[in-house]
Amino acid sequence: MITILGIESSCDDTSAAVIRDGVILSNVIAGQAVHERYGGVVPELASRAHQQNIIPVVHDALKQAGIARNAVSAVAFTRGPGLLGSLLVGTSFAKGFSSALNVPMIEVNHLQAHVLAHFIKEDENDTHQPEFPFLCLLVSGGNSQIILVKSYDEMAIIGKTIDDAAGEAFDKCAKVMGLGYPGGPVVDRLAKLGNPKRFTFSKPRIDGYDYSFSGLKTSFLYFLRDELKKDPDFIETNKNDLCASLQKTIVDILMDKLYQASVNLKIKEVAVAGGVSANSGLRNAFEEYSRKHGWKIHIPKFAYTTDNAAMVAITGYYKYQKGEFAAPDVAPYARVSI
Ligand code: KG4
Repeated sequence: MITILGIESSCDDTSAAVIRDGVILSNVIAGQAVHERYGGVVPELASRAHQQNIIPVVHDALKQAGIARNAVSAVAFTRGPGLLGSLLVGTSFAKGFSSALNVPMIEVNHLQAHVLAHFIKEDENDTHQPEFPFLCLLVSGGNSQIILVKSYDEMAIIGKTIDDAAGEAFDKCAKVMGLGYPGGPVVDRLAKLGNPKRFTFSKPRIDGYDYSFSGLKTSFLYFLRDELKKDPDFIETNKNDLCASLQKTIVDILMDKLYQASVNLKIKEVAVAGGVSANSGLRNAFEEYSRKHGWKIHIPKFAYTTDNAAMVAITGYYKYQKGEFAAPDVAPYARVSI
């Protein structure tokens, strides 16, 4: 029996989870409301909040899983990429836990963990996992990538954003409309009430599978600036249509490249991961491609879309089986690829 305690603290969510033999036993996430009034994550405040949250969150995760501390086989933690101060809290906690209980530590790459979230089992009979090789669209506040996943530990980024991430495009355009932070979920909610064909915004023309979202952000900003000159209430009166059209543009950009990759590589097993995979427009597009193009799609449960420790624990589970343990002097890293 392999029991992994997972710890995630790379940005502004403190999370702990327990996975036993690939099956989820608990996944506790503490968000940080402190950033809302600043319109973005404030790194120093994030690390302080992690320090306050980490012990109660781990305590709850073990309690909900119904296991004692000494039943843990290894502690897996996010080493990076992320905010250094935030990562230090999770890394230091893992070191303390590992030395106090004399269990190994496993370092986890946050991006790899987002992809492997698809292998978390709800119970022993759960067989919804993707088959290798598959394509994974990883879309979050910091990343937009198309990943070719050949095995649990063999992944290649075949396309990535050359500027903003898809989540940033949602958040920055939402900010311009005064929708608060993070704006992605608000745009999603209002888009359901609007007409996605009402406005058109520019789409990038880039070779290969790479993305770009900074042009869309600028075109959205200039469009609003011009319209506001004519009608100061333009945003208020057209909010739903603006959100629906913006969401459609972002989803179309994401899906076009993913489709090209699927055709060229002849892979119809396609997954989505990361915070933006909660977006209903993107989820609907996946369903549509599944119907139209015979894709076998994998959409994660909401709880595994944003940052969570369950995905760290499942990655730790696979690394444990290969004996890939971290050295006691392991340090977090802010930037790293898969
Ligand atoms: O993976 P994630 O939790 O962490 C970061 O990378 O920071 O992703 C957060 C991002 C934010 O940009 C947020 O606006 C976006 O995911 N997001 C959404 C939705 N839910 C979260 N974007 C569009 N529609 C949503 N429903």
